[in-house]
Amino acid sequence: MGVSGSGKSTIGKLLSHHLGMPFFDGDDFHPQSNITKMSSGKPLNDVDRQGWLEVLNELAKSQLDKGGCVIVCSALKQRYRDVLSSAIKNEVKWVYLSGSFKQIFERLNKRPEHFMSSKLLQSQFDILEEPKNAIEIEIALTPKQIVEKVKEALNIKSEFGLFGLGVMGKSLSRNLARKGFHISIYNREIKGVEENIAVDFKNSYSELVSAKAFSSIKDFVESLQRPRKIMLMVNAGDITDMVIEDLIPFLSSGDVLIDGGNSNYLDTKQRYEYLKARDIQFIGVGVSGGEAGALKGPSIMPGGNKETYNLVKPYLEGIAAKDANNLPCCTYIGEEGSGHFVKMVHNGIEYVEMQLLAEVYTIFKAMGYNPDKIANILESWIPQANSYLLGITIDILRKKDGEVWLVNKIVDKAGNKGTGNWTTIATAQLGAPSTLIASALFARYTSFYKEERLQASISFNIKSTALDLEDADVLNAYQFARIINHFQGFKLISEAGKAYTWELKLNEIARIWTNGCIIKSDFMEGLISVLKDGDNILTHKTIIKQIQYMKPLINHVVSECVLMEVPVPCLSESVNFLNAYVTANSSANIIQAQRDYFGAHTYQRTDDSAGKFHHTNWK
Ligand code: 6PG
Repeated sequence: MGVSGSGKSTIGKLLSHHLGMPFFDGDDFHPQSNITKMSSGKPLNDVDRQGWLEVLNELAKSQLDKGGCVIVCSALKQRYRDVLSSAIKNEVKWVYLSGSFKQIFERLNKRPEHFMSSKLLQSQFDILEEPKNAIEIEIALTPKQIVEKVKEALNIKSEFGLFGLGVMGKSLSRNLARKGFHISIYNREIKGVEENIAVDFKNSYSELVSAKAFSSIKDFVESLQRPRKIMLMVNAGDITDMVIEDLIPFLSSGDVLIDGGNSNYLDTKQRYEYLKARDIQFIGVGVSGGEAGALKGPSIMPGGNKETYNLVKPYLEGIAAKDANNLPCCTYIGEEGSGHFVKMVHNGIEYVEMQLLAEVYTIFKAMGYNPDKIANILESWIPQANSYLLGITIDILRKKDGEVWLVNKIVDKAGNKGTGNWTTIATAQLGAPSTLIASALFARYTSFYKEERLQASISFNIKSTALDLEDADVLNAYQFARIINHFQGFKLISEAGKAYTWELKLNEIARIWTNGCIIKSDFMEGLISVLKDGDNILTHKTIIKQIQYMKPLINHVVSECVLMEVPVPCLSESVNFLNAYVTANSSANIIQAQRDYFGAHTYQRTDDSAGKFHHTNWK
């Protein structure tokens, strides 16, 4: 930008050549009426410019996906620049070519046959509002010098910062760099213990050649364009708070912190409020996909203020996995900690999907199959039950350690980092019974009683007897429980949406879970359209048909497991849950009567349509 005659076209063309981006001269987009007006010596007014600026804005937007472009335009007033950068404020970089009236007047007089004569120059200076956020370059320099300075300035500040180079932080940094983002990366340094982490990491990967690596928080923060956008990839919990405290002294008003860890959604809300009071914006982002997903494209669940999200959207959507329609597996989830809530439920569903595969393995083991045979059966299930977790379980079962299957050498104690625990707490707090998540979590906890289990296996002497089941029945039992798992997970999200007044779109959540994340599956793909029709997947005709077909089969599988002493907590819970869910008249009348008996808690009567609460003296 700059007044007419400041050299915009020359510099713009040169710059576009250096940046490898297309060039557009704003002058070429004036309507004939504007050209006629200027040619007749009359300056344009705001109304004349409006349409022209809008056209240039559309042009800029259309070039974003193609890697950007260089546009030259006088853009004299702030409101013109607002129109030009409308809806792409964050992506636009301004370069202001500044010079004195005298300098430019002389140049204009040398310019042959241009509709803008030197007589109009004063009118341009009259309305010029110098920009505050532009790279300002003095036009007395040579074009080559100017372009070098612009290039230097554009590169000086990175557009995005990644704080914390653990497994996920490293993969996300490489992903960002591969997508062409200019990033700064930081990892703490402990003298003599952890040194040069960021620099060594940068030097190990060619895609990080233009990344800037730091071990000083101050330098890292100062290397970023404002408002700064810093993604924290550190351990959830106290570490996140400590890191935020470390960063605050160097941040400025309007900067954005993005917490990409598996943080508790309630902590996210608190951090949002805490930082808001300091004029720092905060987004809580669930990231799923593990190390490989983070590198190739994770599923991303961002929550917080929508406008703040828009500032970081290009980066998050840029690095996310793509769904079947090539749309990013990243969508704005909702206010407050909703992104982390949804990620938490994702993990709850993940716990169940993992547990169900473990139970299937237990069943086949009890049928006398070895890991290879089980892997072959699971492989044959792919056409009906394809999922990321099914795929990795097949690989796991086939992995040998020398002559022995590695899985047979792994201690049967399942760890956890807390998200399943939080989901179970949330499901209880919100009164939305995600019973399979609780069962899967408690199955992990039970596995931890290793010593006691060893002892009990001797004292109780309960022996599993060989199971005799059809492989196909086990598949149907597995598929049935997966439907209940997804029903309960989405129900929990839906209840949270109501309780916290987040406007959640369940079908969009299913969509961003179709790729990049741990629970991606063909079933999830189908849920996009199911959830378009309503939040409750158990009301969908196709699902009802599937459940009706599978129910007798899982009944048989679970009963046999119980009779043969094979523990299947999630499979059996899915049967019990559905049995309870489809019971029109349950035993809760007894509970109500008991409550009223000992505590006068009252009850409602079936013969009182007003719904009044009654109390009885029971003796
Ligand atoms: C993901 C995973 C990821 C991680 C969890 C597992 O979506 O990429 O869910 O977040 O695997 O830390 O947690 P547990 O250690 O509790 O199983």
